[in-house]
Amino acid sequence: MSNPDPSIIVIFGASGDLTRRKLLPAVYNLAESHLLPEAFAILGIARPPIDDTVFRSDMRKAVEQAEGEPLDPGLWRHIEERLHYAHGDFQDPGFYEQLKARLADLDKRHQTAGNYLFYLAVPPELFGTIPKYLAGADLTREQDHAWRRVVIEKPFGYDLESACKLNANLHAAGLNESQIYRIDHYLGKETVQNIRAFRFANGIFEPIWNRRYVDHVQMTVAETVGVEQRGAYYDRAGALRDMVQNHMFLLLTLVAMEPPISFRADDVRDEKVKVLHAIPKFTDADVGRAVVRGQYGRGPTPDMRAYREEPKVDPHSTTETFAALELQIENWRWAGVPFYLRTGKRLERRATEIAVQFKLPPLLLFRKAGVRDARPNVLALRIQPDEGISLEFQAKEPGPFDHLGTVKMDFSYLDYFGAEPSTGYETLLYDAMIGDQTLFHRMDMVEAGWQVVQPILDAWRRSPPPDFPNYESGTWGPAEADLLIERGDRQWRS
Ligand code: BG6
Repeated sequence: MSNPDPSIIVIFGASGDLTRRKLLPAVYNLAESHLLPEAFAILGIARPPIDDTVFRSDMRKAVEQAEGEPLDPGLWRHIEERLHYAHGDFQDPGFYEQLKARLADLDKRHQTAGNYLFYLAVPPELFGTIPKYLAGADLTREQDHAWRRVVIEKPFGYDLESACKLNANLHAAGLNESQIYRIDHYLGKETVQNIRAFRFANGIFEPIWNRRYVDHVQMTVAETVGVEQRGAYYDRAGALRDMVQNHMFLLLTLVAMEPPISFRADDVRDEKVKVLHAIPKFTDADVGRAVVRGQYGRGPTPDMRAYREEPKVDPHSTTETFAALELQIENWRWAGVPFYLRTGKRLERRATEIAVQFKLPPLLLFRKAGVRDARPNVLALRIQPDEGISLEFQAKEPGPFDHLGTVKMDFSYLDYFGAEPSTGYETLLYDAMIGDQTLFHRMDMVEAGWQVVQPILDAWRRSPPPDFPNYESGTWGPAEADLLIERGDRQWRS
């Protein structure tokens, strides 16, 4: 393991939810695992005019709440002594000169060698602005071995054009690709990182991981929650932008990529981006045939409001809260194997799962023995909840007849590895501090993802949905999504 360099994490948006619920608790967990550098500091920046003392006690409460238990006093003291606050207006170029002076001061005090990790936990409108002003104050230029890195949260762009523009703006602010860390919190999940280990640390799966043996792959990211308090953001985004273009494409690339020549960041990212480039461009006809959108209506209980009744949502909104699509990956490994993706809010169960369904045996000998229902082998990677991996296969039921039953070999993370308190941001923060970009999106991958979804967004814009809301809260989404997969004689797993 590398030891992170001495550094200061500068959090823009320090009064926000992300800082309270994820970032500071992740720092605490890293400290607990001795994974923070000794020379280290955090500078939180936000608008409220408070001082270090108030910020510290506020953060202490937030971390305590996230941990769900009293903090270790020694450990918290260690963090608190390194925790600072500055208030300012991110849109005011003058503020960045003050910031520079403050950082120089903290650098001396904590011996952090001029290494700064700027974390933009702010609304997306500021993703371009902050780096521009940082560059104006000469804070993005790396010098004398001092590194400068910028971590950007999602959503990265609103469409293909805005994503390309944002990339161009970051580069115009003097940042090169090795300084930009585009975060996707799905990559912080152990179960997502494990896909790589599962595929490339085992000998038995890779030979059958292709069109000769795989019938199809289905990926589900189902949530039971609605849009909660995020109506203003979500109504402009929708499921395709919010989940498919980033999180689901990430899962797709991990499942479908070729083995990289090494686990160095660019070797891995080269293979991932090829998967997205191999998806044929959707025509309008493809969108009509292979993509389904939905919006939730009310559910059986009074708290299950229709999407259009949610706070800060347009009562005539045509934003989709559900999307399902069938796509192809046109390369030698996957040609002809459909990948079905579906995601939605207010569905029946919370489940993120990737299921690889294998072809049936070439000759169904058991049919002659009266077995009608042949069941395929399914390998299910359960990302959350109930994290684990299972393999379904057929077994003979005891007795004098040839009766088959589907049984499961099941691996559960919890049983094998126990549960560590984790926010999912520990690895991401640690990797950003040691300069490992493997788990962060490279520019071409983000743009390739938008290239796939852009024709769908365009087609949808041209023909608004006539039937929204088209699924009841608490169900598995619109009936058309079932038809989409049933057309290929397949079924969603429920
Ligand atoms: C976020 C989306 O990126 O991911 C949310 O903006 C969604 O709409 C969330 O609820 C899901 O994350 P997780 O980790 O709960 O699956």
